[in-house]
Amino acid sequence: MSPLTRRELLAASAATIGGAALAGPSLASGLDVQAGANGLHAVAQKRGLRYGSCFAMVPPQFEGPSVTNPKFTALLERDCGVLVCENEMKWQAVRPDAARFDFSRPDPMAAYAKKIGAKLRGHTLLWHKVERFPGWLVNHDFGPRPAEAAEKMLSTHIKTIVDRYAGQIYSWDVVNETVDEDTGAQRESSLSRAYGSADTMCDRAFHLAREYAPGVQLVYNDYMSWEGDENHRTGVLKLLEGFKKRGVPCDALGLQSHIWVSGEETVAQQVRRQEKGWRTFLDEAVAMGYKLEITEMDVNDKRVPADIAARDAKIADYVKAYLDVTLSYSQITDVLSWGMTDRYFWLNGFDPRTDGGQHRGLPYDADFKPKPLYHAIERALAAAPIRG
Ligand code: XIL
Repeated sequence: MSPLTRRELLAASAATIGGAALAGPSLASGLDVQAGANGLHAVAQKRGLRYGSCFAMVPPQFEGPSVTNPKFTALLERDCGVLVCENEMKWQAVRPDAARFDFSRPDPMAAYAKKIGAKLRGHTLLWHKVERFPGWLVNHDFGPRPAEAAEKMLSTHIKTIVDRYAGQIYSWDVVNETVDEDTGAQRESSLSRAYGSADTMCDRAFHLAREYAPGVQLVYNDYMSWEGDENHRTGVLKLLEGFKKRGVPCDALGLQSHIWVSGEETVAQQVRRQEKGWRTFLDEAVAMGYKLEITEMDVNDKRVPADIAARDAKIADYVKAYLDVTLSYSQITDVLSWGMTDRYFWLNGFDPRTDGGQHRGLPYDADFKPKPLYHAIERALAAAPIRG
């Protein structure tokens, strides 16, 4: 027998998801499990909030934060009422070339979310950062009528994806990270140049999303953070202001919340230094009428010495302070972590600690045990003002 192709492997793992892996007594809801009923989501729900995480799809022979990994899905099923694909709905994953789509990775994830009764966020219809484009798009030739060709490409993309998950995805990150953190201006790319400007391109992305996904929350998502990157925050406010002026249907600002804890200062010192600027930023966004969501929370602990007990305590205190301030804005209804366990923490690859140790910025440790951070999130959710 010939070895399985990658596609067959993915299909096989999808079949497992629909079968034995989750079999068990059905609840009154008709589901095998009611996602989040026993953990952070249950705590969040009491305050009118939702809690969740990103998740992934890797073939079962590889270990990862995947629907194919029962140790990981146990965490999702315990704590998460909402899930979001970490990479599987990005252009790089679903758009092998200009003419084709490939949904072999996100489809089983959406099926899994449905099966366990978790809601699904969509991420992302347009990650406007050239490094994150699929290779074929970086220098794509849009031909003699570039604006028309760009519109065709973007509208086909948005329509195809939102139609596929219509009725399931209730909130889409329409545009991700278009603001350059150094200059506060929008980035440029083959696509924005073909459109004529990044403003035109982003406006169209939101209009197309509203047209094809009516009733869905449309989000601008970015990583400006409370650590004080002024140009980035100012640039994001300028973008949001432009959306309002031009009647662009953007409903909410996604606060990615990739926060980082200081090595030199105490948590109290760091919070004191940052809180005012962060509140001013959030005040301005909500004054324009935007909702807010926490879409990708995690902690970079690179600057903190290795000692585990002290590091865990500091991270927990920092996140508690962050959530206390940020959740005081009742415009937020979703809190998502960017992963559940340090075992698969993306920052270990993207921005490793210099001492060779692992980051500890997610709720569970590498052995799937809850850490002080888990309990800090739990306490902050329990203390959040009740949403209407
Ligand atoms: C990250 C993923 O976690 C990584 O696996 C991938 O290699 C790069 O992207 N902002 C976002 C997310 O909007 O999509 C990014 O996710 C993290 C930063």
